[in-house]
This record gives sequence, C-alpha cells and structure tokens, in this order.
Amino acid sequence: MAIGFEGRVAVVTGSGSGLGRTHALLLARLGAKVVVNDPGASVQGTGDDRSVAQRVVDQIQASGGQAMANLDSVVEPEGAARIVQSALDTYGRLDILVNNAGILRDRTLAKLDLADFRAVIDVHMYGTVNCTKAAWAVMNAQEYGRIVVTTSHSGIGGSFGQSNYGTAKMAVLGLMNCLAREGIRKNVRINAIAPSAATRMTDGLVASVPDEYLRADLVSPAVAWLCSEQCEHTGLIVSAGGGYFSRFQMMETPGVQFDPRGEVTPDSVAEAFEKFGRLDHPVPVHPHPLGNLEHRLRALGLLGESKQ
Ligand code: NAI
Repeated sequence: MAIGFEGRVAVVTGSGSGLGRTHALLLARLGAKVVVNDPGASVQGTGDDRSVAQRVVDQIQASGGQAMANLDSVVEPEGAARIVQSALDTYGRLDILVNNAGILRDRTLAKLDLADFRAVIDVHMYGTVNCTKAAWAVMNAQEYGRIVVTTSHSGIGGSFGQSNYGTAKMAVLGLMNCLAREGIRKNVRINAIAPSAATRMTDGLVASVPDEYLRADLVSPAVAWLCSEQCEHTGLIVSAGGGYFSRFQMMETPGVQFDPRGEVTPDSVAEAFEKFGRLDHPVPVHPHPLGNLEHRLRALGLLGESKQ
C-alpha cells in the first residue's frame, strides 16, 4: 500500500520555513492533519515573525489540506506541551512528531560566548526533548507513534565553527538510540534525518552546488517515509539531500582483546591500534553498556556458560 496519512495527525516543529515547511506540506498533501509550529525566529533564534506558520497553513488549506498554526517555542517544556495539546484539542490525537526546529550561532569555540552555546542546545536538544516528552505519553497510551529527530552532518562528521550545533545534533541521536528501545513495546518508533538542503540556514554555505539541486522538498520524502505506518524501523539515521539517500550507523572495529587479568600498558594500546584502528571490517555498535565484552570473555573461557 502506498504511503499515506489519512486519519493521522502530525506536529512539525519549526515548519514555517525551510525543511519543516516542505515536511509539513508533504505530510498534509498525503492526508495528515498538521500542526504547523513556528514562532517565526531568525536563523540566530531572535525575533518573532508571527505570520510564517499561518502562511504555511494557508498554503496547505488552499490545496484542500488540513492544518493549524501554533506559535509556541520548543525551548520551554510548557511551550512544547501546548504544541502537543493543540493537536489533541483540534484534531483529537497525535500520531507523528517531526522535531525540526533549529537555529545557528556559529563561532569557533575560542570566540564563542557560552550563552550562544546554550541557546543552540536549548532549541535543538531541549526542544527535541521537550516535544518528544510531551508526545511520548500520548503515543505510548495509544500504542502508536512515529517520531523523527533532525541531526546533521555537522555533528556526525564535525564542522569548523559549529561546536554548539554539532554537540546538539549528536545529543538528539543519543536520545533517539535510547528511546528506540523504550518505545518499541508500544509501537512508538523514532528515527533520525540528516538533511542537506538550500535554506536560509545554509545560505552562502553551499555555494558550490546550485540551490536547484538542493531543494528542501527532496529531503521530505525520507521524513514522510520515517513517519509512516509502513516504516517499522526504529533508531535509523537516514541521510537525505540533493536526491541522494543513505544510512548512517555508528560502527565498531573488530578490536583487540587483551587478557583482562594481565597488565595493559599505553605502549601495548598504541601498538594494538594498528589493528583495532583499521576501518575495513566494522560492525554496528552492540547496544549494551558493555558492548560485546561478555561475549568475548566467554570466548576466551574467562566466564561461565551464558544462562540464556
Ligand atoms: P530554517 O532556518 O529555514 O528553519 C528553521 C525553523 O525553525 C525556522 O522556521 C524557525 O523559525 C524555527 N525555529 C527556530 N527556533 C524555534 C523555536 N524555539 N521553536 C520553534 N521553532 C523554532 O532552517 P532549515 O535549514 O530548514 O533547518 C531545519 C532543521 O534541519 C534544523 O534543525 C537544522 O538544524 C536542520 N538541518 C538543516 C540542514 C540544511 O542543509 N538545511 C543540514 C542539517 C540539519
């Protein structure tokens, strides 16, 4: 069955412009009732153009879709709660949350005011935590939910002058990894999008590729898929931009196991790095606080048989 959102209700944060706008337009076009959240902030997070959310709502309604505007900021838990409540009050349910709102305060760490570090964390990380927390109870109670967090190549790969942003964008992946486990029993799936698009946020940063190849609406189909009932994955990181789609995954190299009863010196680690530092046969990180340690120690005969 083709992906559609008839009967589904979605919140898209920061959907008054850029990527959030194209996510909202696509979800609405495919049948979702959409809460277009946006206080109308500048790229730096200042100001409040209270018309941007309504403009997207008008566009959705003009095409026959259903949408409402919400102007709350995601930064405060109370605002996030109101965003979710507006979906419940107007449409009676909430099935989809796309955490998209974002700002930039780029500077090298040497020159960065810590207030600007915090402001970026507040919108990207706490904004995502606040909205997800508010939606979580609703989605768990109805045993259905699809959540998307928005990460970035700037965190995953690093980016000069974006330590605040990169930190925040990796934080949402940690959140996703844990909630992927917590949500699975109640069919609440959470995945990440790592987008690339020409928006006001990237204005001047991606001059080497013409904007026409970096349309925001080339990212939104990946977000819509992650928001769909058909997508039963959880904990994915999907990269999308310029018509290209790929998957990111935290990997671990096969590693070197020393006998934990013996001495390990810095020199032996340095020497072992020649082997464990090689990236040719990585495997996805084992989701356990000890990784695969128990398995390896058992293979060495250092632990008894597994009880499982
Ligand atoms: P944008 O600046 O066009 O859109 C961001 C939206 O978030 C704006 O409409 C803004 O008003 C809203 N916003 C800001 N503070 C808010 C708050 N406190 N509460 C609610 N909404 C708020 O930028 P763009 O490019 O569309 O970015 C969307 C998301 O995608 C962001 O999370 C960004 O970090 C992320 N991203 C974008 C990339 C790109 O290539 N454009 C690359 C990687 C990540």
